[in-house]
Amino acid sequence: MKYLALEVLKLLKSSSGYVSGSEIARKLGLSRSTVNKVINELKRLGYVIETHPRLGYKLLDLDDLSLSPLYPPSVNGRRISIHYMERCSSTQDVADTLAREGAEEGTVVVAEELSSARGRLGRKWVAPRGGLWMTIVLRPSRVECLHSLSIAMGVAVARGIELIAGVEPKLKWPNDLVIDGRKLGGILIEARAEADRLLYALVGIGINVNNEIPPELQGFAVSLREVLGKRVPRVPLLRSVVTHLFEEYDKLLSGHASEVVKEWKQLSYTLGKHVRVKLVDGSVVEGVAIDVDRLGRLIIDSEGRRIVIDSGDVEHLR
Ligand code: BTN
Repeated sequence: MKYLALEVLKLLKSSSGYVSGSEIARKLGLSRSTVNKVINELKRLGYVIETHPRLGYKLLDLDDLSLSPLYPPSVNGRRISIHYMERCSSTQDVADTLAREGAEEGTVVVAEELSSARGRLGRKWVAPRGGLWMTIVLRPSRVECLHSLSIAMGVAVARGIELIAGVEPKLKWPNDLVIDGRKLGGILIEARAEADRLLYALVGIGINVNNEIPPELQGFAVSLREVLGKRVPRVPLLRSVVTHLFEEYDKLLSGHASEVVKEWKQLSYTLGKHVRVKLVDGSVVEGVAIDVDRLGRLIIDSEGRRIVIDSGDVEHLR
């Protein structure tokens, strides 16, 4: 962002109410028309700034998710439509209903609090106030994309977090977001198909942002607020995650899955580790995680035997 825009932003952030155009102009030594231009530039970048004819400008709370539908309805040229709810059972269910009714790709459901959030492999997910809990509807035209969607979404969310928070989460296969061995977030992908046609995929993303980590999860889970020692504004985080999500998704759609796998490997927390994997049929395999193939499957060397894993729960042993 340009220097002037940053200075104006700082001024708006330091005030809880309105700041008049003449005050901004005087404090920063600018003309009124330059102030107008900079405000428009900030709006174009996605900041929501209320303008009052007499009082001036007010920056809306960047952590207030209920304002997220007011932000520009596109990211990187892709249309998004945000549905905010104070509370719901699971954003996956709400998004499922919308998708069944024909909601377009790019429909996002975000809620402040979920009462029965779902995690991967049938697990429960704790989603109290202060976190980022969202589901985005995708309608991939190429069914093959579904295979690598899981790792692509991991890369996207890690990059989206890094841009806003300045910390790089690592990826535990396939897409757990991990910082210093503790879980920062996770991704659940559910898909609906009819005969052999994929109708839509629901990408559910949960990130511990400013929320409290419940006592029973202390030591296993961590929030961005705990890592950084300060709160992280969730509206820019949401937009950054969605922007990166489309970036990685477009790579899959245009047949560049190998690029996504390469990025995943750079962020990997699993490769090279001794792991125990519980498979969906209940069986367990142990070995060293040696690779991820172009479909995003995990390859394990188990005493010289090469095992290819589609889906499962990975535990790092050492
Ligand atoms: C996991 O690591 O097990 C995946 C957790 C996914 C949680 C998110 S929160 C938003 C969306 N709605 C849900 O019910 N689950 C996902």
